[in-house]
Amino acid sequence: MSVKKIAVIAGDGIGKEVMPEGLRVMEAVADKFGIGLQFDHFDFSSWDYFEKHGQMLPDNWKDQLGGHDAIYFGAVGWPEKIPDHVSLWGSLLQFRREFDQYVNLRPARLMPGIIAPVVRRDGTARQPGEIDMVIVRENTEGEYSSIGGRMFAGTEREIVLQETVMTRTGVDRVLKFAFELAQSRPKKHLTSATKSNGIAITMPFWDERVLEMSKYYPDVKVDKFHIDILTAHFVQRPDFFDVVVGSNLFGDILSDLGPACTGTIAIAPSANLNPERKFPSLFEPVHGSAPDIAGKGIANPIGQIWSGAMMLDFLGFKAAHDVILKALEQALIPDNGAPRTPDLGGNATTQDLGRAIAKHVELV
Ligand code: NAD
Ligand code: IPM
Ligand code: MN
Repeated sequence: MSVKKIAVIAGDGIGKEVMPEGLRVMEAVADKFGIGLQFDHFDFSSWDYFEKHGQMLPDNWKDQLGGHDAIYFGAVGWPEKIPDHVSLWGSLLQFRREFDQYVNLRPARLMPGIIAPVVRRDGTARQPGEIDMVIVRENTEGEYSSIGGRMFAGTEREIVLQETVMTRTGVDRVLKFAFELAQSRPKKHLTSATKSNGIAITMPFWDERVLEMSKYYPDVKVDKFHIDILTAHFVQRPDFFDVVVGSNLFGDILSDLGPACTGTIAIAPSANLNPERKFPSLFEPVHGSAPDIAGKGIANPIGQIWSGAMMLDFLGFKAAHDVILKALEQALIPDNGAPRTPDLGGNATTQDLGRAIAKHVELV
């Protein structure tokens, strides 16, 4: 049996609580299918590591992680101790850039047993499957740029500047991924998030590239919305969307909003992909370290578990992915007496829900 090497980084806060549940479910599915998985744990990319070493990562982190087939990540950030931009630019954002994980794939789907806070126009509840979109977020450039600076700090003349960077290669490659994804889905519908009415240099360029790329995918229905009205449409008619592609910042915002429309951001997974597989890809929940609930053992582990399913799919184990998704659905059906964490209206613990899902993996 060939063994896949997974680098495991739990990180901060609830990352440490949801990660064991992700691993529990992964082990259950690996047993079921006879998949060989080796988990190598790393303590860096966390406040604990920073406190000891004065930096978020060891100097040779690329060597330490580079030989792995994938990285399974929890969450990072402990703003009470270290400013977020320092911890994030010192860890997760480096992984995305240095490992060229230029696609951030973020599904948002209404699952059984969860009530969507966004109802239909006639006031009736939306049903599972009715919201089923994938946000494709550009993940290595755009608004997340380190080009800029601060001058005359603390004086009346203070000036701060941060440039948005869009390269043709960078935009085209994520668009190509998004179009191909749309083409592979039944609705074949792609929506582009823009703001070319106000951000008058980079965003018209983005629109131009979308138009150009659309010529290669004539069977994909394409539309675009400015980001302001797009957020309104997400809330008022989330069922309209299929694949939604956006720049780094727009994709970030939409990928919290989409899952929020499906009931809780805690279930949302993500895959930071280097599609060429030159570097390891990274799989993590969309949510962060949630300092407000960390240490209580009540975080919902589904985002972490679903991210693990996406990782297995990317590593070639589609059937294992499908079993985890089925187990998640089974565990969420109220008739099955599933434990629910507080974000889902229950009082179960992280472990209760993780165990229930692992049990369903054995059963389905
Ligand atoms: P957050 O996602 O950590 O939390 C937002 C809200 O959602 C909180 O009320 C939290 O309790 C709740 N929540 C999040 N995940 C949950 C879960 N699994 N179960 C139940 N409730 C959950 O966002 P934030 O508060 O903006 O950020 C906190 C820290 O995490 C910051 O340091 C931020 O920079 C960092 N962050 C990291 C990542 C990442 O590692 N990818 C992502 C987002 C935020
Ligand atoms: C995410 C997070 C990160 C981002 C932060 C923590 C830098 O919000 O993964 O969505 O903005 O990419
Ligand atoms: Mn985010």
